[in-house]
Formats: sequence, structure tokens, C-alpha cells
Amino acid sequence: MVGSRLASSIAFLLALASTIEARPLKHNALPNIPRSWPSGGNGLSGYSVPLSDGSQSLPAPNGTLKFITIGRGTQNYTCNSTLSSPVLIGANAVLLDASPLLPLLPPGEGTAVLDLLPSYVIDFDFAAIEASQIPKLGIHYFDSKGVPTFDLGSNGLLKGKGLADIPAPANASAGPFDQGYGAVDWKTLTDAGSSVGLKEVYRVETAGGKAPPSCAGVTAPIYINYSALYWFYD
Ligand SMILES: *[C@@H]1O[C@H](CO)[C@@H](O)[C@H](O)[C@H]1NC(C)=O
Ligand SMILES: *[C@@H]1O[C@H](CO)[C@@H](O)[C@H](O)[C@H]1NC(C)=O
Ligand SMILES: *[C@@H]1O[C@H](CO)[C@@H](O)[C@H](O)[C@H]1NC(C)=O
Ligand SMILES: *[C@@H]1O[C@H](CO)[C@@H](O)[C@H](O)[C@H]1NC(C)=O
Ligand SMILES: *[C@@H]1O[C@H](CO)[C@@H](O)[C@H](O)[C@H]1NC(C)=O
Repeated sequence: MVGSRLASSIAFLLALASTIEARPLKHNALPNIPRSWPSGGNGLSGYSVPLSDGSQSLPAPNGTLKFITIGRGTQNYTCNSTLSSPVLIGANAVLLDASPLLPLLPPGEGTAVLDLLPSYVIDFDFAAIEASQIPKLGIHYFDSKGVPTFDLGSNGLLKGKGLADIPAPANASAGPFDQGYGAVDWKTLTDAGSSVGLKEVYRVETAGGKAPPSCAGVTAPIYINYSALYWFYD
């Protein structure tokens, strides 16, 4: 079934490219599925978040899987005279709805295609993705208090705090076209309070996002391109 998985993946990516270039879709790749997600994990029951980077694992989720999204944006860092290495101060990402892809994944194949998507999506222009017709489920940013925030509109709001993180696998994309400082950690965030309808999020299959190792010669702030899968649970 590898061929079928690859075909699905390529079809999705062609459709992605077509929307970005504002051309009509040439491929009937994306079935016209309802935009409203089934509640309670219906339709998502065959999917489970990757937890292992090959040597370490994140704790398993306890909630119900609600959404799978593809994040694309920047991790923001600062440097100043007292810092030897960059410090994370924020992020800015659009969360694309992975649902149009799910019906294309052959049953029983796990998430092999999904898992590869961030390493492709990072090669697309962030601004073009934001302006495209690809269905967006929400946005990710740090609020004014520096709390990682995931705003899925009427589908929920997660104010996160870190629970666990593990390094990305060695073969993760280092950045756009595999150029960069490496892939940010995989991590689990849980409700920091005042979340609505969402309790846990997993950032996995990361591509890019890591800062340069040293502040030497760096002009802050630094915006580093990244992509990742974000899996949301309630
Ligand atoms: C799920 O529950 C287990 C047992 O209490 C805990 O160790 C783990 O950290 C929890 N996972 C999350 C994502 O909260
Ligand atoms: C440098 O940045 C760090 C992290 O943001 C901050 O805690 C520290 O106060 C800053 N130092 C100066 C001199 O601006
Ligand atoms: C992060 O960087 C983006 C640019 O990608 C910017 O729009 C956003 O305001 C920044 N947020 C923080 C908290 O630095
Ligand atoms: C991030 O990607 C955008 C295109 O999406 C590009 O214009 C920008 O130069 C990249 N930033 C860095 C720091 O590589
Ligand atoms: C990394 O290697 C694993 C094991 O071969 C593979 O399943 C995965 O797709 C690879 N990841 C990337 C981003 O190429």
C-alpha cells in the first residue's frame, strides 16, 4: 500500500500548490467532505498521535482526540547582551485543517503520510499558505503574558503549559528545503487554565524552528520558519 499512500500524499500536495497559486484545482484529489467535524473523535478513531522519536516517548494523551492540524509559521527568539544563546519569546502559526486528507489515507496505514507532511509544508511560503484557500482551523501564538495559545475559534481555545518534550528524530527536516538549525522538540502542552473545549495538544513531526546555537552576530528578534503537526484533545 506504499504506492497508494504516496499517491494520496502527492495528490494533497498538488492541491495545496494549486490553491497557493490561486489556480483552480486541477485534481479531484480533495473530496468535498463536510467542513464540520464529527464530535467526540468520530472519524478520528483510527488515528493516534506519534509519541516516540525512536528513543524517547511523550506521555500518552488522556483526552478524546478532537482535531489534527498542520501548523506552519515561525518560532520567535530574542537575543541581547546578557544572553549567550537565543531565548524563545513567541510563535506565530496558522493551523491548517488536516481533515481533507484523512479520507484519502488508506485505512490501517496509521499516520505515515500525515507524519511526513510538515517536512513538505515547510517548503511552502508561509504568507501564501495564510492567504490560500486551504481550510484553516485556527492560529497559534503566545499571548501578552507569554502563554502558548491555540485559538480554534468556535472549536475551542487552549492556553497551554509544557508537560513534556523530547528531541525531534535525527532525520527531521532542519528547515525549509532542509536548510536551517534543526527541528524543534516534540512536546505535550496541557491546559494552563482558562482553556475552552480543549485540554491537551501535541506538537510532533516537527520541521525547522530551532534558533541558531549562539547569539553572536545575531540581530533580535529572530523569526525561524517551522512546521509541525498539532494534535488536539479534550
Ligand atoms: C495522562 O495520565 C497519566 C497518568 O495519570 C499521566 O502520567 C500523563 O502525564 C497524562 N498525560 C497527559 C497528556 O496529561
Ligand atoms: C535579556 O533577555 C532575557 C530573556 O528575555 C531577559 O530576561 C533579560 O532581562 C534581558 N536582559 C537585558 C539586559 O535586556
Ligand atoms: C512572532 O513572529 C511573527 C512573525 O512571524 C510576528 O507576527 C509575531 O508578532 C511575533 N510574536 C511574538 C510574540 O514575538
Ligand atoms: C521564512 O520563510 C519565508 C517564506 O515563507 C521567507 O520569506 C523568509 O525569508 C523565511 N525566514 C527565514 C528566517 O528563513
Ligand atoms: C524518518 O525515518 C523514519 C524511519 O525510517 C520514517 O518513518 C520517517 O518518515 C522519516 N521522517 C522524515 C521526516 O523523513
